[in-house]
Amino acid sequence: MAPPAPGNLIDLMALIDAHGRPLRDLRISITDRCNFRCRYCMPKEIFNREYEFLQRDLLLSFEEIGRLTRIFHDLGVDKVRITGGEPLLRRGVETLIADLAEVGLADLTLTTNGSLLERKADALAAAGLSRVTVSLDSLDPDVFAAMNDVDFPVTDVLDGIDASVAAGLTPLKINMVVKRGVNADGVLAMAEKFRGTGNIVRFIEFMDVGSTNGWRLDDVVPATEVLKSIAARYPLEPVDPNYAGEVASRWRYRDGQGEIGVISSVSQPFCGDCTRARLSAEGVLYTCLFAAGGIDFRAPMRSGAGDDELRTMITDLWSQRSDKYSELRSGVTVNLPKVEMSYIGG
Ligand code: GTP
Ligand code: 5AD
Ligand code: SF4
Ligand code: SF4
Repeated sequence: MAPPAPGNLIDLMALIDAHGRPLRDLRISITDRCNFRCRYCMPKEIFNREYEFLQRDLLLSFEEIGRLTRIFHDLGVDKVRITGGEPLLRRGVETLIADLAEVGLADLTLTTNGSLLERKADALAAAGLSRVTVSLDSLDPDVFAAMNDVDFPVTDVLDGIDASVAAGLTPLKINMVVKRGVNADGVLAMAEKFRGTGNIVRFIEFMDVGSTNGWRLDDVVPATEVLKSIAARYPLEPVDPNYAGEVASRWRYRDGQGEIGVISSVSQPFCGDCTRARLSAEGVLYTCLFAAGGIDFRAPMRSGAGDDELRTMITDLWSQRSDKYSELRSGVTVNLPKVEMSYIGG
């Protein structure tokens, strides 16, 4: 990361939130649309023909995203993840990656459902993407088709994974959201498929994000249960985090065949060192995945705000931030309005 300009040093030193957490990661959603209708994210009864997705002119342009990213970078952000909806649906995404690759971030990555990866992996790597994370909930063709709810074939996602590995978008991560009674019996098969390949599977507890996915605590498979079932077959040992505030806990196979991760946002929340901000596709900045509201950056940018003004908006917001939703999850917070996962990008 380039050293901050002297004028920004005070901002940077002061930029911790009300719980002492610095701002390090920015997750940028570039579209709220997706070609899947995963039951736990965009149930088709709600995300149907009548659903009003964002109109094109409401989306931040690539230029606007690049400008904001540079300001965030000056403020200490060195990790950026592009999300959606499905980010590869946004036309010209490679152009955006190429621009962001110029910013000098330590990590520039993207979370995708993998459906368009076979076609796009080479262009993304050439544009300067560091690596890619692919959501893959089952290897069983029928279970996978039922979960994405558009009959998308699992083989196409696996081809996309192969293409990404060949393009060097590694270490590749595979995200599996585990839902009891739906795909939980496929945990071991998923671990086995990627053991020894250098790719890292992460098993994610089904979260109560948004208000349309019918979340029930009974559907959550705690990370300890996932680890126990894998370790019974392939013994595991813990590994230190890669970076402060890493969402996944890392575990490696004792026989040297690589590592897995578990993301226990429900059973063991990790708000204490959450360093993430999230920018929606229309330019609203949220300081928590479960926030009900955020601060709009599009209007000020389109009415001529200077970089200093935008910088102050960010520092004001972050220094007042006190979110700890996952730790506070309770009867009271559960019924608050929340943004949808497909809007904020997970
Ligand atoms: P790495 O940079 O590879 O460590 O990625 P990551 O794990 O931070 O990001 P990814 O998009 O792969 O997220 C994995 C899962 O963790 C998704 O289901 C996210 O929604 C969830 N997740 C990521 N960040 C947070 C967070 O700040 N809070 C909560 N509760 N969940 C999060
Ligand atoms: N709980 C946990 N993870 C979720 N994702 C989407 N919805 C949920 C949910 N309700 C995951 C996706 C993707 C990542 C960005 O978030 O599968 O891997
Ligand atoms: Fe699309 Fe990802 Fe949501 Fe599935 S989880 S509907 S792939 S945005
Ligand atoms: Fe951060 Fe909010 Fe997730 Fe807690 S629930 S880790 S504060 S995004």
